[in-house]
Amino acid sequence: MSIRYIKETKQLILETKNTGYHMKIDQLGYLQHMYYGPKPGQDDMSYAFRYYDRGFSGNPYDKRYDRTYSLDSMPQEYTSFGVGDFRINSIAASCSDGSRCAEFRYVSHEIKEGKYSIPGLPSVYENCGKAQTLIVTLKDTAANIGIRLYYGVFEDLDVITRSAEIFNAGEEMVWLRKASSMCLELPYGSWDMMHFHGRHCMERQAERVKLFHGVHTLVSGRGMSSHQHNPFIIICDHDTTEDSGPCYGMMLMYSGNHKTEVELDQFESVRVVMGLNDDRFRWELAPGTSLNTPEVILSYAEGLTQLSHNYHRCIRNNVVKGKFKYSHRPVLVNNWEATYFDFNEEKLLQIAEKAADLGMELFVLDDGWFTNREDDNAGLGDWVVDTNKLPGGLESLISKVKAMGLRFGLWIEPEMISEDSDLYRAHPDWALTAPGRAPMMARNQLVLDLSNPDVHEYLYKTISGLLRDYDIDYIKWDFNRPISDVYSHATPSALQGEVPHRYYLSLYKLYDRLTSEFPDVLFEGCAGGGGRFDAGMLQYSPQIWTSDNTDPVSRLAIQYGTSFGYPCSAMGAHVSASPNHQTGRKTPLSTRGITAMAGSFGYELDLTKLTEEECAEIKEQIKRYKDVEPVVHSGLHYRLSDPSENKGYYCWEHVSEDKSRCLLSIVVTDPQANYTLAHVRLKGLDPNAVYSVGGEFECRGSTLMRNGYTFPQLTGDYPARQLDIIRI
Ligand code: GLA
Repeated sequence: MSIRYIKETKQLILETKNTGYHMKIDQLGYLQHMYYGPKPGQDDMSYAFRYYDRGFSGNPYDKRYDRTYSLDSMPQEYTSFGVGDFRINSIAASCSDGSRCAEFRYVSHEIKEGKYSIPGLPSVYENCGKAQTLIVTLKDTAANIGIRLYYGVFEDLDVITRSAEIFNAGEEMVWLRKASSMCLELPYGSWDMMHFHGRHCMERQAERVKLFHGVHTLVSGRGMSSHQHNPFIIICDHDTTEDSGPCYGMMLMYSGNHKTEVELDQFESVRVVMGLNDDRFRWELAPGTSLNTPEVILSYAEGLTQLSHNYHRCIRNNVVKGKFKYSHRPVLVNNWEATYFDFNEEKLLQIAEKAADLGMELFVLDDGWFTNREDDNAGLGDWVVDTNKLPGGLESLISKVKAMGLRFGLWIEPEMISEDSDLYRAHPDWALTAPGRAPMMARNQLVLDLSNPDVHEYLYKTISGLLRDYDIDYIKWDFNRPISDVYSHATPSALQGEVPHRYYLSLYKLYDRLTSEFPDVLFEGCAGGGGRFDAGMLQYSPQIWTSDNTDPVSRLAIQYGTSFGYPCSAMGAHVSASPNHQTGRKTPLSTRGITAMAGSFGYELDLTKLTEEECAEIKEQIKRYKDVEPVVHSGLHYRLSDPSENKGYYCWEHVSEDKSRCLLSIVVTDPQANYTLAHVRLKGLDPNAVYSVGGEFECRGSTLMRNGYTFPQLTGDYPARQLDIIRI
């Protein structure tokens, strides 16, 4: 049993293989958070919380003569609002009488076999290994608002999921102003926070900060999970390293506007509230209706590496769906950086022919294949093939590509619309634009109002039509601007605050319909590179284009940051041209190959311009990738360098689960004369086994892990090495 209720002490205990999560229903019926961390068995953890008069922290009416009892200091599972807990709250609402307060007390709980699912939203699902669900119902009797707190316990994964369902139990209307997925309290300790910020072309940069008193807020209000703040944080001890020390991961499985608040309060206690962004949010909760919030994936581990492994396993096994979850991802060539908009059938076929010759498996036709798309200023919405560029249409191109033995993939950006399109001329009201206001343009395009069911249906028909009419194996689904001017012309004015979330409910439904109907198509997510790289998208698209920056040296930092929460199999990574188009940097082909092999591998350069030596090297790279892919995608990933130490290299390792094979990779970013050689202690090997190290020498796993491996001197521009360490 992963979930237990201990009647005598009113404890609710969730247990995974290594962790315990304790709650307690207190004397007044508040659901207190007592503990999350290494498994403490059935101990009543309330001993650690002391009641004392905390001066100017008020007391609920029932305890008006007891100044030691205050919501303002009590660790809670989901907070009240407006009644004296002055810290960040999980929820805010207004009632029809104008009141804006509620306090939630325990009503009942239920323990169920299996994992709950969330209507309309992606969530972690049960797969190889059992899960259980706890549902705790809380209610405020004056406002008549109820909350069902959902907990999914994945014992083998060391993962606990959370989501809240807020319901109107009364007879009057309620308007939600904030609806978070969870609140997690860390009453004791001194903590750092790791978060993953960035920008276009430099997503998910790992940053670690010491928490200060006050509230740290990480948000996206851009209508996408964003390049700027990934919905994932880690709270860890000041002393936590890759290998030891407590760390808590919190990942929101959501692709739209999100908000994470981390408060270090007056009593040194930390509260984290995570969920939908409440900025301009307003949800009308009619009597008898409810709102389900997106899921948070929680994990606790000792050491950042173990925490990452927990997330990698969970995403690979229990988030990603469909046949590509474990199977080989085709080595692709994408024409974007080879041609941009300047191509015709002949040029594409030349690239495809070369790709087939080099051993690539999938040809992807990127942006520019449809009418009125000479550049990125027009053409989105109609999705009709441009017969000037492709005189025989997609049919002819696809059949020629297929005749070469390649599969065929197509780029689309379905959520967008250009003003200069037949779709816009027919349905200007289908774009999100505020009345009487010229909208913000980005890439000179607008965003379709997916919250409008007619738009949803149009997109379903268009995309399913493409997939039915043509022999397409892969779709790159792009999204190239933030959402502003959020106003749906199909929605009553009072409900405009629901539009951003309804947009994502509709998008997830669309993805769900298409992936169910076309299970053989591999979907790759994309949003101006990695602007929508999140666990929500990963449910439908097993890989996501990690960044528009294909410079391998920039990619090292991007892939490093991304690896804290997301597995290598999720990261689309391509070898591109040198000098690189984004940075102008020149790098060796081997460095580009080794960096891209740490993801879902492909090429994105004009193959017709390669020299013979480069072609020979690429043939070897592809063979190599096919050989190492199982270790990279299903093995354990270890970060062996920390960029904040400025050692001048990135080093990482992939080890198969059975420890028989290890792939060690290094890229030197700052080669220097007469410098200290890169030396790393290997991780995750079988201590008692003997390994062949790159064919150079043999050594015991324990020695390699204790005494390490010294790389030879690597000189030149950004040199890289990859070696096999194989158990004998
Ligand atoms: C985005 C994508 C690129 C490419 C272009 C096409 O920027 O991230 O990979 O598809 O759009 O316009």
